[in-house]
Parts: sequence; C-alpha cells; structure tokens
Amino acid sequence: MRSILVTGGAGFIGANFVHFLIAETAVQVINLDKLTYAGNLDTLAPLRGNGRHVFIEGDIGDRDLVRRLLRDYRVDAVVNFAAESHVDRSIEGPAAFIETNVVGTFNLLDCARAYWAGLGVAGKAGFRFLQVSTDEVYGSLGPTGSFTETTPYAPNSPYAASKAAADHLVRAWHHTYDLPVLTTNCSNNYGPYQFPEKLIPLVILKALRGERLPIYGDGSNVRDWLYVTDHCRAIWQVLEAGRPGEVYGVGGASERTNLQVVTTLCELLDELLPHSPYRPHGQLKEFVADRPGHDRRYAIDAHKLRSELGWKPQEHFESGLRRTLVWYLEHQIWCERVMDGSYRGERLGFPP
Ligand code: NAD
Ligand code: DAU
Repeated sequence: MRSILVTGGAGFIGANFVHFLIAETAVQVINLDKLTYAGNLDTLAPLRGNGRHVFIEGDIGDRDLVRRLLRDYRVDAVVNFAAESHVDRSIEGPAAFIETNVVGTFNLLDCARAYWAGLGVAGKAGFRFLQVSTDEVYGSLGPTGSFTETTPYAPNSPYAASKAAADHLVRAWHHTYDLPVLTTNCSNNYGPYQFPEKLIPLVILKALRGERLPIYGDGSNVRDWLYVTDHCRAIWQVLEAGRPGEVYGVGGASERTNLQVVTTLCELLDELLPHSPYRPHGQLKEFVADRPGHDRRYAIDAHKLRSELGWKPQEHFESGLRRTLVWYLEHQIWCERVMDGSYRGERLGFPP
C-alpha cells in the first residue's frame, strides 16, 4: 500500500484532503500536525479506528520526528499543507509564519532529500514532494488578467512572503538535488472545516449571533473562490500525474467581490433561517477599516491543470456556498469546540 505523509492534516484543506484520500483512494495516510489553534482533532473524528489513517501530533520543524516518520512508514510522497495560513495574523505576528512556513518547509525538504537519496531506483523514481502553495505569492492584480505559472512572484503580506520563500526552497531542491517536487498555487478555498477567522465562516458565525459582519474597505476586493474538494482533487491529480519540477495553478474561475460574497451569504441565511430575529441579515453588514496592504484582486488561470491533467472544478460557487452554509448550520458544536477560547471572532491584523 502506498504511504503518504500529509502535513497539516488537522487543518481546513489538509483534513479535507485526508478525508478525500481515505474515501477515494487506497493509500495509507500518515498525518503530521502540530495542532495549533487551527488544527483540530474533532475534524478527524470520523476517521477514528480507520487503519489507513495514522495521526501524529508534531512539528514539521522537528527533524528527528520527520526523519523517523519517513523511514518507519516507508513514505512514497509528502504533501505539505502545514502552515500558518491567515493573512491578518501574519500582520500582527509574522514570526510563527517564518518559523513554520519557511524554516519548517526547509526542514521537511531536507529530511525528504536525505530519505529519497537512500531509496532504490524504483522508490526514487516514484517519490514526490508536493508543496501546497497559494496565489498570494503573485501579489495583486488590476481589473483584468489572471495569474499563470509564469507570473513573477511579488508577495505583499508577511504570510504571502513566507509562502513565496518556501516555494523558492522547493524549486531549489529540485534544481540542485533533483528531488521530484511539485508545487500547486491555489486561489481562495471555502467549504467544511474552515476555521472561523476566514471571511466565509466568520460571516456565517457572526450572522448567527446577530453580530456585525465586517467588510474591509469598500468590499470591492476580489477573490477567486474554489470549493475545497475541488482543490483536493487537483492536488491528487497533480500528485498522480504532474511532471516533477512543474508548478500548477489551481483556481475556480469564480471571481466575486467580498461584498458580493457577504450579500449572497446574507440572502442564503434569510432563506434557510426564516424565523431568525436577525432577518434581513444584510442589515448586519458593516464597512470597517481596510486590511493594511490589502491585495486588490486575485484570479488564477488554471489552463495548464485543465489541459495537461484534465482537472476541472465540479462545484459552482453559489451551490458550494449553500452547501457550506448548511454544513456550518449542522455543525455548530464543531464550531464551538474549535473556538477554544483563544479566538472569539475579534478583528485581527489592524491596530486598535
Ligand atoms: P489551516 O490554518 O486551516 O491549517 C493549517 C494546519 O497546519 C493546522 O492544522 C495546523 O495545526 C498545522 N500546522 C501549523 N504549523 C505546523 C507545524 N509547524 N507543524 C505541523 N503542523 C502545523 O490552513 P489551510 O487553510 O487548511 O491551508 C493549508 C495550506 O494550503 C497552507 O499551506 C496554505 O498556505 C495553503 N493554501 C490555503 C488556501 C486557503 O484558501 N485556505 C488557498 C491556497 C493555499
Ligand atoms: O488566495 C489564497 C489565500 O486565501 C490563502 O493563501 C490564505 O491562506 C487564505 O487565508 C486566503 O487569504 P485571504 O486573505 O484572501 O482570505 P480571508 O478569508 O482572510 O479574506 C478574504 C477576503 O475578505 C479578503 O479580501 C479580506 C476580506 N475580509 C476578511 C475578513 C476576515 C473582510 O472583508 N472581512 C473579514 O472579516
């Protein structure tokens, strides 16, 4: 049985990927996660007792642990989701972003290289290191055009800069040491298990409590939304059939302004909660001071992934948003438990 080391598999996308691997493939999953505020074992509860899923609490920066996992589980591929992922937190405290996203990725790469060098010919040829990256490394777009795999890096936030640094390390480990790496740069994800500091779950949970829905600036910043399972499928296809050393852009071709996203959510809430005392939920919208350095617009041209690997998103934004809202309405205990007391929905990344 093939064995995949998934890092950050108790977080939003990593956990969705782990669920996808267990449901759709026959691989064994070694799930290494530090369980920061963003990592939650509740998200993995449906896998309890599943012999194909092994959870290890630990840090990608722990050299001995990573070496041991690679060797003991005869790992065939590493998929690196582990990261500090929230832009607003990176504005308040960038150090953890450098530690995990840059130094942690370096550690994983270096351990993977040493392990890979000791494999036999077939093991070496089949091994992959897949870096899960973001479209934010490319900076910000004007009103037209999209990011492609050849767009120069121009990261604007500490988060984006840390991811860009990690991507450069991944690239260098391929060019210098021949490590068979793959990089995916994806646009904004949404769906089940997203920590409620990010726009969509934050708005849902605040609206349920009748709290103000903070829209940064004038709400006209644009994000290109992709349902998380479509991202997971893209990563799997790249892992299976991507060419080592290559980069693949992943995006939903679903650009919306933040104001459109919040307005659609409010309309869905009105429809699904006809007895809510907060209807119409649109009255809760509040324009607040903008995020410092707020990137104007992201959009990914996923032509390469579509034409080379036959990937295309299966979920439309409006139906995916409805599914996501229904999921949050049905999993309010999950929401309460992941908000462990350290984060209560307050504004991050902006001086009081
Ligand atoms: P998340 O914050 O929900 O989850 C991150 C996970 O990594 C958590 O479970 C956390 O405990 C774990 N982690 C953090 N530091 C660690 C360390 N040092 N060692 C081991 N585990 C550690 O993030 P997410 O939104 O699921 O993003 C996952 C990855 O995908 C990140 O690399 C992010 O940059 C990338 N990405 C995210 C999006 C998005 O829209 N969320 C889009 C494109 C790319
Ligand atoms: O593009 C991919 C990136 O998408 C990932 O690499 C990041 O890990 C992920 O967090 C996400 O980054 P964003 O900064 O785009 O996501 P966030 O949900 O924080 O914000 C989405 C947009 O909504 C952004 O333009 C800022 C705005 N926003 C956000 C919050 C939290 C608001 O208007 N109000 C808010 O309260």
